[in-house]
Amino acid sequence: MKTFVLGGTGAIGRPAVDSLVAAGHDVSALVRSRERAFELQARGARPVEVSMFDVPGLSLAFAGHDAVVNLASAMPSTLQFVRLRAWRATQRIRTEGSANVVDAALAAEVGILVQESVAMLYADHGNGWVDEQAPVDHYPMARGNHAAEASANRFTATGRTGIILRFGLFYGPGARHSEQFVAMARIGVVPVLGHPDGYLSSIHVTDGGRAVAALLAAAAGVYNVVDDEPLTKRDYATALARAAGHRPWLKAPGRLALLLGHRTTSLTRSIRATNDKLTSATGWTPAFTSAREGWAATAEALARRER
Ligand SMILES: NC(=O)c1ccc[n+]([C@@H]2O[C@H](COP(=O)([O-])OP(=O)(O)OC[C@H]3O[C@@H](n4cnc5c(N)ncnc54)[C@H](OP(=O)(O)O)[C@@H]3O)[C@@H](O)[C@H]2O)c1
Repeated sequence: MKTFVLGGTGAIGRPAVDSLVAAGHDVSALVRSRERAFELQARGARPVEVSMFDVPGLSLAFAGHDAVVNLASAMPSTLQFVRLRAWRATQRIRTEGSANVVDAALAAEVGILVQESVAMLYADHGNGWVDEQAPVDHYPMARGNHAAEASANRFTATGRTGIILRFGLFYGPGARHSEQFVAMARIGVVPVLGHPDGYLSSIHVTDGGRAVAALLAAAAGVYNVVDDEPLTKRDYATALARAAGHRPWLKAPGRLALLLGHRTTSLTRSIRATNDKLTSATGWTPAFTSAREGWAATAEALARRER
């Protein structure tokens, strides 16, 4: 399948491009710098320089493609995460950018659109499992995700196939936040946001990338892209600390994060998402069944890279 990827140089995009190329797809990807163009070429993809905010340029770039995969985002750094203004770039990408991608894909007569979203849209479900029918929640930082999902639904409404990926919390080599988490865990500080008995749904970036490739053949709709066993936040913190080879001396900010209200709500709520729909639709299964195995492999890969 001829596939065009936006965000193909990011944390989830790189493994997605690798999986698409490995599955035999002909992959083009948006680039914004020469350095990233060389990187994409080395991965077996064709770099295309075009702006996400130029609809005629995008539709020219999409012409002749069967599928467009939109994984672009520009999340704030860990330190800036609670500042609403730091979300501007990512909100623009997810509102204006995702709408542009749909307009351009329709103009270029592309049949399949895959759009990144997040499992953190679901309302808090305590200990209960969360499938794709569960009610979602609206809070300021999720505005862009809802807009991106609405754009993908608009694509499906024309009779084409719009696929929405509700990713769990990414982690793995190449994901900036996780590399910072490992560095903190090595000195005994591990992040726990919200109640320690609450659940956190996660996905290792290579499994997320494999899911992108698997879902190209799926029916339109929403799919949770999460591992098999969401851990409680207590167990997640322990898994991260063990992987980094340290006993945690500080698990923070814990329940204090609740004081920040909607600014941290995506991470303080309890979401125990199931991947049943994804696995039965595609046969995909995660190589890292939970963050326990995934964090161990991530810490090992980062240590190898440093040697
Ligand atoms: N579900 C989740 O847990 C989740 C979701 C999203 C992000 N994150 C985390 O947040 C951190 C940063 O993520 P990120 O997605 O911002 O960075 P990232 O991993 O570097 O990926 C962002 C991708 O979007 C592209 N991009 C950025 N601005 C663009 C624009 N204006 N037009 C077109 N493409 C654009 C980037 O291209 P360039 O390479 O040219 O910059 C890159 O390919 C990572 O650690 C990631 O794990 C987590």
